[in-house]
Amino acid sequence: MRDVLEVQGISVTEIADRFQTPLFLYDGDILKRQITNVRKAFHPSLEIFYSLKANPNISVYGLLHSLGANAECSSLAELTTALRCGTSGNGIIFVGPGKTEQELEACIRNGVYAIICESFGEMERIHAIAKSLGKTQDIALRINPAFSVKGSRLTMGGKPRQFGIDETHAIELAATMQQQFPHARIKGIQIYSGTRILAWEEVLANTVRILDLAEQCAAKGGFSLEMVDIGGGLGVPYFDDESRLDLEKLGVEMNPALEKFHVAHPQTRLIMELGRYLSAECGMLLSRVQYVKDSMGETFAITDGGTNCHMAAVGVGSFVKRNFPIKNACDWNGTPEKAFHVTGPLCTPNDVVGKAVKLPPILQGDLIAVLNSGAYGPTASPVNFLSFGFPSEVLVHNGEAFLIRERDFPQDMLRKQNLISFKGVNNEHHYREYETGASKRFEAAISQ
Ligand SMILES: Cc1ncc(COP(=O)(O)O)c(C=O)c1O
Repeated sequence: MRDVLEVQGISVTEIADRFQTPLFLYDGDILKRQITNVRKAFHPSLEIFYSLKANPNISVYGLLHSLGANAECSSLAELTTALRCGTSGNGIIFVGPGKTEQELEACIRNGVYAIICESFGEMERIHAIAKSLGKTQDIALRINPAFSVKGSRLTMGGKPRQFGIDETHAIELAATMQQQFPHARIKGIQIYSGTRILAWEEVLANTVRILDLAEQCAAKGGFSLEMVDIGGGLGVPYFDDESRLDLEKLGVEMNPALEKFHVAHPQTRLIMELGRYLSAECGMLLSRVQYVKDSMGETFAITDGGTNCHMAAVGVGSFVKRNFPIKNACDWNGTPEKAFHVTGPLCTPNDVVGKAVKLPPILQGDLIAVLNSGAYGPTASPVNFLSFGFPSEVLVHNGEAFLIRERDFPQDMLRKQNLISFKGVNNEHHYREYETGASKRFEAAISQ
């Protein structure tokens, strides 16, 4: 008897048959669990802003927003997503080292709570745009601290970086810049210095340093401290040798520091930006095994969704030295019997999602589930390689499966391309027939 993986009581085979593979499947209960646990663990003065970059699907953010998360955005599409979910300007911050005039203008017109300003050049630009619109925009200086964050798998500060303003520059120049650019009003700081931190001690140490630095910057830089964004970087375990961040312990140890800061600065908004911690564990990539074959003594399970859908599964740390948790979803609890290389459909030997993964026997047509895949999945992957396009996304919410993003079809990949006229090449008639047929087939499949 093969024991099939389920999400909220619905078998993943049913979902895959209905929506086709490859697909990303999200469990809304896990999203709910994560945001609820985070809000419960920390001092009530700490507000959680969801980093849409981790998973920008509008229903993923919508669910988190309905449970109290606000939005940290880094692009116009993310900003639009937050606004479409009804987030007020007060609940949006906008981050990123290369903000364009168009992005800044959209932030200012929509009254975002703070643009996280990453250079004095950017501050000048914000000032000019705000002035031309007859407004003043609040900003927080992103500080590149002199210290580097401990315990992070990817450090973003504490060394020469394109992110933020060096601590010394910020302290020395903030007052002068504020005088020069009054339409960009400095009201606090943000520090985001690393990601995938699993040790509560490191998060605590970083937070204490950030709160201390915030006070120093404001005092020496001559601005009021209406907000401090302490970043976050909380990680989830992906690999066998990693253990879960002790969130409860982190809360117990960190809350006195937050309380102390809150008492000293009762009007200051405290913000934590979280992406991965909220969304990673809710998701899995489901791909269907097209072929199982042996080559020179090793066995390959070749699926329809590889690194084009899920680069993060191989791009974190080092190239598939360690595997994400991978299961045969059609034999979920079966005893691992054999090592399979789980590969995708790309024409490159690097298209390996899992190397020598011990799995129960795999049959053609089985579903492979790559777990912990709700963050930095398709949006952080080369989904357009070989023109496959974006996979489907399905959210199970209150026991029901919803298609929250339709996969790309060939016509989607071609929609924005222009075929200029070459002798004997145009064949619009056949193409139209094909396009209509493909849409109808998918619509028929999902309406079953
Ligand atoms: C500025 C900023 N904020 C938030 C995040 C989200 O990080 P995580 O998904 O680790 O929570 C990132 C990730 O790169 C980031 O660069």
